[in-house]
Amino acid sequence: MKKKCINISVDVLSYDELSTLEAGLVDIAKNETQKAYAPYSQFQVGASIILENNTLVAGSNQENAAYPSGLCAERTAMFYANSNYPNSKPLMMAIASYADGDFTPQPITPCGACRQVLIETETRYNTDITILLYGRDIIYRLHSAKDLMPLAFDQSALKSVE
Ligand code: THU
Repeated sequence: MKKKCINISVDVLSYDELSTLEAGLVDIAKNETQKAYAPYSQFQVGASIILENNTLVAGSNQENAAYPSGLCAERTAMFYANSNYPNSKPLMMAIASYADGDFTPQPITPCGACRQVLIETETRYNTDITILLYGRDIIYRLHSAKDLMPLAFDQSALKSVE
């Protein structure tokens, strides 16, 4: 048996260590949490994206009484961006969450379905997307969505069965 080691790199930062652009994107994601429709979980998530054409896009989680019909903030924002600006690369995304009257102390980490979508978006636009995961106490910065999900399923697997 051989072992394969997969290294991922996560920058651990305070808000003060962010660039002006990063801090601005985090601020928009935080603001977006207040627009969430989360009557079932009471967990409000906001996501913001900057595109190559300098457009800023944001979204929040939108829940539904039929629970699986709702959508996370990350996919709400990314699908909006991809629908309205299909020719502009998403370059960076910030995510924040708000519960029990405050922003969560630990960084919010996206669900598996959102990770899958973010990775495909990187492939679609042939780019890495910087991911900023905001927490009140600490912020994580990843240089690519691929670092969120090693060994992800992608379209290269489909091509191999052609
Ligand atoms: N949620 C997001 O919007 N993004 C995440 O990264 C994690 C979870 C939403 C889904 C649901 O509306 C609520 O948070 C609780 O899971």
